[in-house]
Amino acid sequence: MNERMTPERHLAEVLASYDNSPNDRLAEITRSLVRHLHEFVVEVGLTREEWFRAIEELTRAGDLCSEKRQEFVLLSDTLGVSMLVEMINHGDEGGTEPTVLGPFHLDGAPRKNMGESIVIDAMDTDKNLVVTGAVRDLDGEPIEGAELDVWETASNGFYDVQDPSQAEMNMRGIYTTGADGCFEIHAARPVDYTIPDDGPGGDLLFNNGRHNWRPAHLHFVVSAPGYRSVITHLFDSESNYINGDAVFGVRDSLVVDMSDGTCGYDFVLAPEG
Ligand code: BEZ
Ligand code: FE
Repeated sequence: MNERMTPERHLAEVLASYDNSPNDRLAEITRSLVRHLHEFVVEVGLTREEWFRAIEELTRAGDLCSEKRQEFVLLSDTLGVSMLVEMINHGDEGGTEPTVLGPFHLDGAPRKNMGESIVIDAMDTDKNLVVTGAVRDLDGEPIEGAELDVWETASNGFYDVQDPSQAEMNMRGIYTTGADGCFEIHAARPVDYTIPDDGPGGDLLFNNGRHNWRPAHLHFVVSAPGYRSVITHLFDSESNYINGDAVFGVRDSLVVDMSDGTCGYDFVLAPEG
């Protein structure tokens, strides 16, 4: 007698189709993805309409992506996956804690001298912020030639790439430390701002009763030859959303007092390998 197919046998058949993959790692990732995806469909009893809706939303996410917009990063961030990937890959080697990159980093930011400002288009709402400190190794020794790639929104809450009224590369700069490892960055005090909400990422937040605010922060990628670079932020301790970041990026060790227009922070890099 013919046996009726079951979800379990179906899953086993799909998994077995990867047995001869020439790429072990790809096969491992694909099998695990298939297993979790099938379990998810069974667990929630996904309807055909819901699955087609999901496909439509993913299609819409793809259509929204461009050089200036990355809807999949937004989904990864708001679902907490970006922070999880950072956590398991950049765990406890002792350096500065990482946080999300976000979709608004640009390559090729202008090089700045110490004390120079990243603000090109000053706004009436700007409050000055001077960030000083040093880049150090795990023993506390200064690292010469470390680069700090810094970016933030203007004080209207928008990044240059979101706002045609701003000059290209407004609020972005790369600083390089000298022999003392020290830096002095001139910027504007960051503001709380909302992440884009006009696509599937925003819909998934709002339809679940969540908000799309991020606590005020400056972004950093800190790197130096021979060290693991770190993607991180400094958060303003006075932000209204310090305990409610839409992308789960806040870490206690990255929260600083910016209330008098200055803040101090030493970034610590772990050796490569
Ligand atoms: C950001 O901080 O730039 C950001 C992070 C995650 C999603 C959207 C924006
Ligand atoms: Fe940001």
